[in-house]
Amino acid sequence: MSISPSKLSTPGAQSSGIVRTRAPGRINLIGEHVDYQGGVVMPAAVNRYIKAVAQANGRSELRLSSSQSHEDLVIPLEHRMPFSGDNSWANYAFGVVAKYRDAGYPVAGFDVRFESNLPLGAGLSSSAALETATALVIEALLGLNLPQTERALLCQSAEHEWAGVPCGIMDQLAVNAGVAGHALKIDCSTLEIDSAPLPANLSAVVVDSKVKHALADGEYAKRRADCEDATAFFDVEFLRDVTIGELDSAQFQLGERVYRRARHVITEMARVRDFAAALEASDTAAAGLLMAASHSSLRNDYEVSCQELDTLVDIAGELGAIGARMMGGGFGGSTVNLVETDGVSRFVEDIVARYREETGAEAEAVAVKLVGGARIENVE
Ligand code: GLA
Repeated sequence: MSISPSKLSTPGAQSSGIVRTRAPGRINLIGEHVDYQGGVVMPAAVNRYIKAVAQANGRSELRLSSSQSHEDLVIPLEHRMPFSGDNSWANYAFGVVAKYRDAGYPVAGFDVRFESNLPLGAGLSSSAALETATALVIEALLGLNLPQTERALLCQSAEHEWAGVPCGIMDQLAVNAGVAGHALKIDCSTLEIDSAPLPANLSAVVVDSKVKHALADGEYAKRRADCEDATAFFDVEFLRDVTIGELDSAQFQLGERVYRRARHVITEMARVRDFAAALEASDTAAAGLLMAASHSSLRNDYEVSCQELDTLVDIAGELGAIGARMMGGGFGGSTVNLVETDGVSRFVEDIVARYREETGAEAEAVAVKLVGGARIENVE
């Protein structure tokens, strides 16, 4: 569907101009599977984007098209059922429209086309980027500018209800609040956001294993449920309020699985604190060790890694990366690697070659830049 002003009729209450927005993907340096337990996370927005171009269409429907999908979709604004199969990507865009409408914003019909150089399902949060690009289209058309926390919460609720993924708030906040050259420090219990510069001698590299495990969504929900069993036992809102000593003394009452899930969350929260201090002190060796410990904990205690990710982390270590670990929800997707900026091109080539040699499979490695958050590019 191409968007040409001549084709479109009366715009109703909304702006009649063409609106362009863009939302970056994100990496996460450390703080995995702690956002929904009130932990601090250290993600960063990166220079891979979903871009949207949109215009009010004067009708009571959303018309969606995407460079990644063959089929254009026309959806009445009153539609209430999540989409499935090939059209399930529409949940991330239409779900946001539905949520803004539920919140009382008078969103009228518009046409929107998405273009993306952000790989889907690679653990770079293409879903939060699609949600946020859509949210900004809505706001630009209505002449609104919501606080980024409110926007992130609306996007998160769209993902919960429309995509059926009970995600935390990390991705939506990271995509909105990115700061060039910096990692964010997001406190997921207060939603306060701070930032920390990445030392100039370090670069971030994302290595996509290309593995997309089925059942991943169900497994994510199970991890949350295990954590909730632990918080119910301790009668606290979040595991952030439980010490490792308290956890250890309850090991037998909790049972082995819930104990190990909670141990990951509590120890990961401590690693985030230590990692932030290590970055501030430019102690890259300490930062790298903490990333390695994060990976082991995700693999052994939280059981969200997979063989391909473990192999990529091992190879990264052998190639001299400062730190490497799986990133995001897990069960496939990507690793995040911190490497010396001087050796980054070499690392990118070598890790793909070594992975191919060892497994016969193709991974994709890319050095990413840390960039500012999502924005409205222009309203014509
Ligand atoms: C996914 C979720 C996030 C977070 C990570 C794990 O990316 O969307 O909220 O829980 O997994 O850290």
